[in-house]
Amino acid sequence: MKQLRLLHLLLWLFSALPFVFIISTASYAEDTPFRIEFVTNYKSFQFKAQEELIKKSKDIMPDEIQSLINDAMSADISQGQRMFMLDAANAMASGYNHYHGGGKKLLRKIGKLIKNELEKEKAKNAELMKWDSEERFLGNFVMKTYEKEMVEKGLAPVIYPHWVHRIWFECKVCHQDIFIMKRWRNDITHKKIEAGQQCGRCHNGELAFGTNENCDRCHLAGKPEADRLHDASRIDHKAIKAVADKVGAEWHADKLSNGRLPVDRFGFIDWLNMKRAGVFKPIHSLDGNYEPEIRDNMILFKSKSKAKNILFSHNVHSSWIKCSSCHPEVFTKSLTNNVKMVRMSKGQYCGHCHGKVSFTFADCTRCHIQEKGVMIEGALLHIGQPKKKKKKKTS
Ligand code: HEC
Ligand code: HEC
Ligand code: HEC
Ligand code: HEC
Ligand code: HEC
Ligand code: HEC
Repeated sequence: MKQLRLLHLLLWLFSALPFVFIISTASYAEDTPFRIEFVTNYKSFQFKAQEELIKKSKDIMPDEIQSLINDAMSADISQGQRMFMLDAANAMASGYNHYHGGGKKLLRKIGKLIKNELEKEKAKNAELMKWDSEERFLGNFVMKTYEKEMVEKGLAPVIYPHWVHRIWFECKVCHQDIFIMKRWRNDITHKKIEAGQQCGRCHNGELAFGTNENCDRCHLAGKPEADRLHDASRIDHKAIKAVADKVGAEWHADKLSNGRLPVDRFGFIDWLNMKRAGVFKPIHSLDGNYEPEIRDNMILFKSKSKAKNILFSHNVHSSWIKCSSCHPEVFTKSLTNNVKMVRMSKGQYCGHCHGKVSFTFADCTRCHIQEKGVMIEGALLHIGQPKKKKKKKTS
């Protein structure tokens, strides 16, 4: 009977293991020998050793537990680390209570903190999900760094629709001169906008509507008016043409079959199709004294799996995008970048744009399209990184 109770306790003590965060990944001034030993046992299921440790540490445990709680609640650690530490404190307190008695107060305290943290996490997730649907159309970004200030003025967060702008402007117009090609890196504020920077380079009442009024044309996330920005079939050709004329771009709605923008099988705009049909011709610079720089070659990525090979066109990419948007931050100027699907799905390499602003990864065959074993004339061959651990020469 006693054995069984002990087993239950031990199982419970170790039940917080799903939190894989390791205490030693962050260094705390308070990492005492007791704490290190306890957490090591805790993570490696050392039941026996844990029991010994708790038995011999009666005097120091209340202070140890309290200091672990204090560290867990300090401001500069992640939610995951905090939960791990609170769970470890919980395990310490129940061990103390079991072997020495008198740990109930600590247990209640920790229980309350854990409950609080779980509720915070739930609220945070709900908050994140809230704007997910506003980003459902590829390239629409919700901007809400200053959400508190906007709410105070009764305004909704901003939606920045990439696609609306792509009709008249190549990526080069904005990246890198006006905006770094990375979300939340630009600290966009009205002070800068009103000084003619950022959105204010165009939204000044001349090239595009100004920001002294029209608040709701940008601050519209979560409102019914935002629906228009998620639906490319509802565009107004006349208005687009008028803006194109004003900024010096071109728009030829007559070249669209049935007057609709071509979309891929996910419902996102097929820009290359539109470019080839000559429907639009965006400008590449606001002041006209930029000389477009185009690299006219192809790079073949040989697939090491069943999927077909991939042909990367420097020409297509550099006709829209400045070299400095890709080099050196996304790719070094070489053929030896370690490009892998897993990394791309985390936003690296091709995933810097594809899946965020350009067509998504779900569209496998738009990249994996070249028959294997066929060399493309004139194309460079991507080399990648040599596999590690192979000592013997393979050539
Ligand atoms: C009219 C200006 C404008 C144009 C044109 C433009 N962008 Fe952007 N881009 C932005 C803004 C604004 C942001 C967000 C910056 C921030 O949040 O600080 C952004 C962010 C990005 C990001 C970062 C995404 C992330 O998750 O970090 C990528 C990638 C991007 N743009 C790609 C492109 C591509 C590709 C094109 C051309 C097809 C393009 N942009 C055209 C304004 C523009
Ligand atoms: C390179 C110039 C340029 C920059 C930079 C720019 N815009 Fe625009 N934007 C335009 C033009 C031109 C239009 C079309 C204006 C019109 O319809 O009168 C437009 C339209 C829009 C629309 C669509 C509004 C509607 O009612 O259809 C939104 C929203 C918008 N911009 C938000 C922003 C935000 C937010 C930023 C900054 C993060 C920004 N823009 C930066 C040029 C720009
Ligand atoms: C061209 C688009 C655009 C228009 C029009 C616009 N805003 Fe904004 N506004 C932004 C962007 C972009 C941000 C920064 C969003 C973020 O990341 O927090 C912003 C942020 C704000 C903020 C918080 C940060 C700050 O800089 O003060 C307030 C308040 C605000 N806007 C008020 C207004 C009001 C009031 C109007 C109308 C008189 C207006 N905005 C019109 C794009 C716009
Ligand atoms: C969309 C992103 C992108 C843009 C824009 C871009 N590159 Fe590249 N670049 C790449 C990729 C991808 C590779 C191949 C990487 C690999 O194989 O590891 C590459 C490779 C290179 C290389 C080595 C191979 C070669 O072509 O000789 C040079 C040099 C280079 N780029 C120069 C440029 C210049 C100059 C520009 C602007 C005119 C430019 N790139 C624009 C993505 C880009
Ligand atoms: C800096 C942004 C950016 C990066 C990085 C990038 N692309 Fe693209 N890519 C684009 C844009 C913009 C287009 C035009 C189509 C669109 O926006 O949907 C495009 C189009 C393409 C196309 C269609 C071209 C055609 O001829 O049909 C392929 C294939 C492609 N990219 C593959 C890649 C591969 C592979 C990588 C990585 C080695 C990569 N891209 C990296 C922005 C990018
Ligand atoms: C934007 C272009 C692009 C899209 C879209 C894309 N891939 Fe890839 N894929 C690549 C590139 C580039 C490589 C690197 C080739 C190499 O190994 O050198 C790659 C490699 C792979 C590999 C080899 C293993 C690895 O991780 O490198 C597999 C398997 C693969 N892709 C499957 C897929 C599948 C399945 C899809 C659709 C769900 C897909 N890819 C969509 C560009 C793309």
